[in-house]
Amino acid sequence: MEKLKILGICTSGRGKNSNTYFLMKRSFDNLKDENIEKEIIVASELKLRPCDHHYSINARMCVHPCLITQTDPKDEMKKIYDGILGADVVIFSTPIYWGNHSQLMQLIIERLNSLENANSVYHQVIIKNKIGALMILGHEDGYQHVAGNLMNFLTEMGLIFPPQAYGAWVGESDENTKADRGKIENDEKIQEIFNDVSQNAVNFARVILACPACGHKLNYEHISKKKNYIK
Ligand SMILES: Cc1cc2nc3c(=O)[nH]c(=O)nc-3n(C[C@H](O)[C@H](O)[C@H](O)COP(=O)(O)O)c2cc1C
Repeated sequence: MEKLKILGICTSGRGKNSNTYFLMKRSFDNLKDENIEKEIIVASELKLRPCDHHYSINARMCVHPCLITQTDPKDEMKKIYDGILGADVVIFSTPIYWGNHSQLMQLIIERLNSLENANSVYHQVIIKNKIGALMILGHEDGYQHVAGNLMNFLTEMGLIFPPQAYGAWVGESDENTKADRGKIENDEKIQEIFNDVSQNAVNFARVILACPACGHKLNYEHISKKKNYIK
């Protein structure tokens, strides 16, 4: 069986102390597959400069590697670019803030514009044959909106999503956020939801990325639907 690389990118601003990281880590720890290499990037531990929005000056200035990556040795977005490029399965996790994903998730999305732009402006399909999934955590409401928004961008970037590609949990919608960690740690149903996200993504990768019968590897390049290229 081919080895699969599964990458988690945790975008909670509270890093390893966060409920978001806790759920992702436990889900990865519980993955039942020996032929898997696992890694979680904790985005808050990296120095990530916000996007300079060169795209808005001229779409052709939004290149991969990103101009910030090329010119600022202190910026660590390369770890995320390289992580994604080297993975077969990429799972993003985010808390919900006022119905939206985290600031860090937004920063990463804008920096990942260069990978989407590579296809839509430069006709280079850099992101291909990779499975995506999401873990979303809140205390009251908003996960469908967050999931829809993230899947919109990430499919444009080129990830392939399985059915039911996200797991989410929100608390009691009161002000007792203090109780959330206890619930998350002790409720087996919550554990199962997030375990299933990783396991389903891996199961999907195993049937999509290589034919289980003949071993033939998927090599699909999806050419951007955008036809108004800038010359
Ligand atoms: C400023 C702020 C806004 C929030 N907005 C929402 C929200 O709209 N919906 C929700 O379900 N939870 C909301 N929450 C609760 C967090 O999503 C929840 O506490 C989550 O566990 C935080 O994740 P973390 O442990 O990774 O920091 C909000 C929390 C903060 C700090």
